[in-house]
Amino acid sequence: TTAPEAPARRVLLAAPRGYCAGVDRAVIAVEKALEHYGAPVYVRKEIVHNKHVVETLADRGAIFVDETDEVPEGARVVFSAHGVSPAVKEAAAARNLDTIDATCPLVTKVHKEAVRFARDDFDILLIGHEGHEEVEGTAGEAPDHVQVVDSPDAVEDVVVRDPSKVVWISQTTLSVDETMETVRRLREKFPTLQDPPSDDICYATQNRQVAVKKLAPECDLVIVVGSANSSNSVRLVEVALGAGARTSYRVDRAAEIEDAWFDGVTTVGVTSGASVPEILVDDVLRQLAERGYADVQEVRTATEDLMFSLPRELRGTMPPRE
Ligand code: F3S
Repeated sequence: TTAPEAPARRVLLAAPRGYCAGVDRAVIAVEKALEHYGAPVYVRKEIVHNKHVVETLADRGAIFVDETDEVPEGARVVFSAHGVSPAVKEAAAARNLDTIDATCPLVTKVHKEAVRFARDDFDILLIGHEGHEEVEGTAGEAPDHVQVVDSPDAVEDVVVRDPSKVVWISQTTLSVDETMETVRRLREKFPTLQDPPSDDICYATQNRQVAVKKLAPECDLVIVVGSANSSNSVRLVEVALGAGARTSYRVDRAAEIEDAWFDGVTTVGVTSGASVPEILVDDVLRQLAERGYADVQEVRTATEDLMFSLPRELRGTMPPRE
């Protein structure tokens, strides 16, 4: 007699995953600045929230600082993909810094919404995570009009000047479902609450969540590649669990994967956040293959072809593309 065959181990690989257009552009901006001007190039905050990317650029001569006052007078500084408030731009100008603004155009779009609604004197409820760089930048466009609402439960404490003149906007990298719940509760409280003119949660965040949702119900384990401070990566773990994955963990790199996660696991889902280079996913897949999960099936829910042109400050430095 032979033992009953174990169910076939497999990997479901989410697509889209990994780099979005805004991250791609921001990383290239630092690379081009290093090539064109030579090291060092200062970068305010992590250019994108990924350890590997930051370490790689630091090796090549980028110097990451927390604030512009750490940049020598007159030096060159890149603003990260997450955006900066007008106060940061003013501080940089006061130090005569040569700035390269790598803010994602989809973040800039939300900044413009904040400016416009503040001009029309709305109370602006910015749904997002308190303390996240993007939220600080957006709120800084209109500090007197914006308040941050960081979860559905926080709605209870929201106080506005005129309940009939309230609009919500959001961080670009939130969980779509949780944000909709926050909006639902806000609307209960403020029935004439206005919606932003278009989706603030960006296409990349939405697409990665849709893809992981599709594969999660079939997975005993979902591994999300991404750094701990990457909002959209952390959301992918939550979304995977919410959609029925038995377990889900986030790892910065393959070496963080633990043996204990694989007890009784047949199907492993894999995805990665918008700031994660594909080589880190390749490493994870290689490790999974070594553990017997060599059969990889892609689960694709969308195709992405969006690309942004380089920051304005860099366009003149580049020879035209062949
Ligand atoms: Fe931009 Fe969305 Fe990426 S806001 S940086 S496209 S995650």
